[in-house]
Order: sequence, then structure tokens, then C-alpha cells
Amino acid sequence: MDNADFIVEGAARRVISPSRGEMARAFVILAEGAGDMLAREALLDRAMGPKRRKKSSEKLRRGRRPSEGLAFVARDPSGAVVGTVRLWDVTLGENGPAALLLGPLAVEPGLKSGGIGSALMRHAVAEAARLGHGAILLVGDAPYYGRFGFSADRTGSLAMPGPYERHRLLALELKDGALDGAKGTIKAAGRKVKALDFVA
Ligand SMILES: CC(C)(COP(=O)(O)OP(=O)(O)OC[C@H]1O[C@@H](n2cnc3c(N)ncnc32)[C@H](O)[C@@H]1OP(=O)(O)O)[C@@H](O)C(=O)NCCC(=O)NCCS
Repeated sequence: MDNADFIVEGAARRVISPSRGEMARAFVILAEGAGDMLAREALLDRAMGPKRRKKSSEKLRRGRRPSEGLAFVARDPSGAVVGTVRLWDVTLGENGPAALLLGPLAVEPGLKSGGIGSALMRHAVAEAARLGHGAILLVGDAPYYGRFGFSADRTGSLAMPGPYERHRLLALELKDGALDGAKGTIKAAGRKVKALDFVA
């Protein structure tokens, strides 16, 4: 997983030597730009298929903009978008505390297991913490997201607004106690999309 040479925006270049005779892959993690929308959507279709739009998480994202400063892409040396992750403002239950919903996370299928997903996750979590958010939720596989500190331990009283597998609703507290007493259905709280957002 660490056989990559990646650069995180605003941080020093990190070079990791190739291991097991593999060539290091190079990528950078950057803020998503206004012109990345088509490339990001095409990547999500390749990585996740068309059913991605039917997920319950989509109900919390549709018609909303990502949380300020929390949409990232990975780019290869040619500038192509090879990874994407975004975080969304939500509230936990009626008038409950604010939190973030992470997703979708996706990596170009031909570049899987090169560390891009992990680099996107670590950058997203670090930036969310730096911006003062208290907790991140997501619907995903604990065997993958557990490595970044996510678990279902604190989500038993929370629910997605639609069908989902309860054991896949995971959370990470960025501030101790941010999920104390959180209960109810997760609700969208993000800034609404404006028509101008589509003019890139
Ligand atoms: C999940 C995904 C983003 C991971 O990105 P990536 O760049 O391949 O991830 P990394 O290189 O950081 O990590 C790869 C490791 O995670 C493991 N892994 C990937 N998906 C996993 C999953 N769902 N459950 C458990 N482990 C998983 C790989 O087996 C690999 O293990 P290794 O390090 O022991 O070889 C990527 O596989 C992807 O785009 N999948 C399709 C879209 C998707 O399912 N997104 C997540 C929605 S919940």
C-alpha cells in the first residue's frame, strides 16, 4: 500500500522507495477544481457502476455542494483524475449535532492497491480535523475503513435515510465525545447547489 510516491497539497513531497521491485506510482492529492466534474463523474461510473446513484448516501448529497474545502482528487503525472473523495455536511437526527458524511471514495480501477485510496482518506480526515469538524460518518466496508479509525461502535442509534446495511454505517470521532448522544436519521445540511455551479 505504501509503494507510492505522492504529494499532498500544502505538504512536503513524500517519496517512498518502490518495494518488491515494483515501480513507484506517482500521484498528487489536490482540492477538486471546478473543471474536474466530468472527469470525476466518469471515474465514479467506471469504479462503481451506474447503481451508485441509488445509494442512500446519495439522498444526503443530491442537490448539495460538498462541505467547504472538503472535495479532493488524486491526479496522475499527466493531470488526469485517478481518485476522488468528498465530504458532506449533515446533521445527526432532528436538530442534532453537525457531522460530515464521507463519500464516494473511488480510485481508477487499473490503479487499485497503489495507495491512492489511503492517501485520499488520510488527507480528507486530516483536513476535516483541521477545519474543526467533530465527526465523520460513512457507509462502507469496516475491513477497509477500520485502518483509518472508522468503526460501527458509535453508530447504533443512527440511521441512514433509506436502505443500508447497519454494520456498514461507520464513524470516526475527530473530537472526543462528538457522537455522544447522537441518535436518529442522518439529514442533509449542506449548501444547496446553484445553477451556476454547473458552468465550469
Ligand atoms: C476502495 C478503494 C477506494 C480503495 O482504493 P485503493 O487505492 O485501491 O486502496 P489502497 O491502495 O489505499 O489500499 C488497498 C488495500 O485495501 C484493500 N481493500 C480495498 N477495498 C477493500 C474492501 N472493500 N474491504 C477490505 N479491504 C479492501 C485492498 O485489498 C488492499 O489491501 P493490501 O494493502 O493488503 O494489498 C478502491 O478499491 C475503489 O475505488 N473501489 C471501488 C469503489 C468503492 O468500492 N469505493 C468504496 C465505497 S464504500
